Amino acid sequence: MTIIETTVAYVKEELAGAEGGHDWWHIYRVWKLARHIAEKEGADLQVVELGALLHDIADSKFHGGDEEAGPAKARAFLQAQQVNEAVIGHVENIIRHISFKGGKEKAVFTSPELSAVQDADRLDAIGAIGIARAFNYGGFRNRAMYDPTIAPDLHMTRDQYKNSTAPTINHFYEKLLLLKDRMNTATGKALAEERHQFMEQFLDRFYQEWEGKE
Ligand code: ADP
Ligand code: NI
Repeated sequence: MTIIETTVAYVKEELAGAEGGHDWWHIYRVWKLARHIAEKEGADLQVVELGALLHDIADSKFHGGDEEAGPAKARAFLQAQQVNEAVIGHVENIIRHISFKGGKEKAVFTSPELSAVQDADRLDAIGAIGIARAFNYGGFRNRAMYDPTIAPDLHMTRDQYKNSTAPTINHFYEKLLLLKDRMNTATGKALAEERHQFMEQFLDRFYQEWEGKE
């Protein structure tokens, strides 16, 4: 087996019980997208594929907020596969920094490989898949789909929106519609533009149908 095949088998097994938003199929989509972006952008494919496959291996949200759990788990696995140290260090940095929000925070690590994986992870939160994931998450949290009397809050922190009880439609304004302007790569931006338009169309129809106006 190649190192990629071995990693696929490991990640599938590790994520066997994961919730819908971060299951194997999220990893699968991010992996395919990241590889596509990396090919177009000329990033190192091995690092990108390993980074994409291992990026949610130990989500800190489910490991008591321990941001180092993911990188440590990836390192242990990759060392056991005799992957070289430069690749391991780079993959650790991708996992560590993929959630970096941009904006006022200063980037402490950047690379074309991180850019590709981060764009792919963000693209999976928008478009048709992003819509499905948002309503799936909202249902899991027992949230309303929409409530015209509850306005979106545009100034929430990461933790606030996670724990918010707002309707799922609000999440589009609080996060999903903002992602297209956070893409790192030209390839990611172009894909985000299409997915963004699809979400705008979805929202237009949603409000029309809500009022029985279509
Ligand atoms: P990631 O780990 O990929 O950064 P998150 O854990 O923030 O993403 O979210 C996983 C999925 O759940 C995403 O598709 C995201 O849009 C969705 N989600 C997160 N918070 C909410 C929310 N408050 N309402 C609806 N969907 C949400
Ligand atoms: Ni992810």
